[in-house]
Amino acid sequence: MNICVIGTGYVGLVTGACFAEFGCQVVCADVDEEKIAGLERGVMPIYEPGLDDLVERNVRQGRLSFTTDTAEAVRASLVVLIAAPTPPGEDGSTDLSYVESVARDIARAMDGYKVIVTKSTVPVGTAEKVRAWVTEEHARENRQVRFSVASNPEFLREGAAIGDFMRPDRVVIGTDDEEATAILKSLYRPLYLIETPVVLTNVVTAELTKYAANAFLATKISFINEFANLCEAVGADVHHIARGIGLDNRIGKKFLHPGPGFGGSCFPKDTRSAAHFAREAGTPLEIVESVIRVNAIQHERMIEKVVALCDGSVAGKTIGVLGLSFKPETDDMRDSPAVAIIRGLMERGAKIQAYDPQAMEEARKLLPDIALCEDAYDACRDADALAIVTEWNQFRMLDLGRVKTLLRQPLIADLRNIYDPVPMREAGFAYVCVGR
Ligand SMILES: NC(=O)c1ccc[n+]([C@@H]2O[C@H](COP(=O)([O-])OP(=O)(O)OC[C@H]3O[C@@H](n4cnc5c(N)ncnc54)[C@H](O)[C@@H]3O)[C@@H](O)[C@H]2O)c1
Repeated sequence: MNICVIGTGYVGLVTGACFAEFGCQVVCADVDEEKIAGLERGVMPIYEPGLDDLVERNVRQGRLSFTTDTAEAVRASLVVLIAAPTPPGEDGSTDLSYVESVARDIARAMDGYKVIVTKSTVPVGTAEKVRAWVTEEHARENRQVRFSVASNPEFLREGAAIGDFMRPDRVVIGTDDEEATAILKSLYRPLYLIETPVVLTNVVTAELTKYAANAFLATKISFINEFANLCEAVGADVHHIARGIGLDNRIGKKFLHPGPGFGGSCFPKDTRSAAHFAREAGTPLEIVESVIRVNAIQHERMIEKVVALCDGSVAGKTIGVLGLSFKPETDDMRDSPAVAIIRGLMERGAKIQAYDPQAMEEARKLLPDIALCEDAYDACRDADALAIVTEWNQFRMLDLGRVKTLLRQPLIADLRNIYDPVPMREAGFAYVCVGR
């Protein structure tokens, strides 16, 4: 099957490379000429484990190619996947201008029947808008071309994106006609071998399923973070609580790890978007609204934790920060808790020196006023305190003796709970963590 993906970012590139690996003929298109030129030279625009090998192999074997010519990509394809960004507006609403622009490009290029699929996370009703934009373009050109519109939300996790795409827990396909259903079922046929459940539904339900999934996961995080805070007040241990409830199959163990609050390119914007369009629909999502508030409070609590560790003031002090990406195994810093925490500490007068195994390039753009270090130990050198913000593996077994000699004072705020409080305190650190 010939397909194209418009928008070669995180989702678009992984989607394109994985479908090529399944044997499809894939063109990935993007307006970013630099990105496409880099990809043609084998340079990945993002860090994602295994992606470079996957792309290289599929390009070499002739199943995957890149272009800035969206029209040509559309004409060569039966299925056109939209993987454009859907950033948040100030009020939490979703900026659909990229999706609209792609939809109109597709419409103008179409020379025959296409299935137009939104893979971007889009508010309920967007597929209808896509249909209207395409129809409008055709009307303007005074022509009629048959097409279907479908929703196929993506659930991959950054850092584990390829595994998630090739062995997903489920695939959700929303269509309003049988032809598109048959084509999309056939596109995902390679997954039938591993018996991946496929949820076939209508377009609106598929669109909303993605928000329900992210809102639920974000709820679990805010839930355990609130209990972590309560644990601190009453002297309980949140890890034991997470285990004590997580072993109940009705609850499940995942997403019950306390920390600085959720971040990344999806949960913050998708929860705000869902809250926004639910309010507009006259059916506010009270739980989701609370989840967003609790998360903002959690970022703030982390800042206060570091300040308290530094005897109530970080003014003029240097804080070493380990981890900048919103989670390990990615260089993505979009809405990373590290950014909120660092900005909060800087507002209170702190100087920041930081290290991240992959996000240094991003940090240079997003946080130009912080010092970037060579490695974890360099981030400790002459710092007044150390804050561990992202739980990269390489931070889990630091040479603590060395850390202690490098720090001006042995103060550690472990905002991901990667160390144990008792040995840390025995090793002579003033150590704070979350909910223990
Ligand atoms: N990143 C994730 O983990 C993830 C997971 C699931 C769903 N999503 C959703 O997928 C969508 C894309 O997210 P992403 O993280 O891949 O974004 P991204 O910013 O990494 O990539 C988007 C790409 O689209 C390109 N683009 C913008 N306008 C274009 C146009 N008119 N024509 C062609 N290309 C254009 C950009 O240049 C960019 O390369 C969003 O809706 C997001 O919410 C993301």
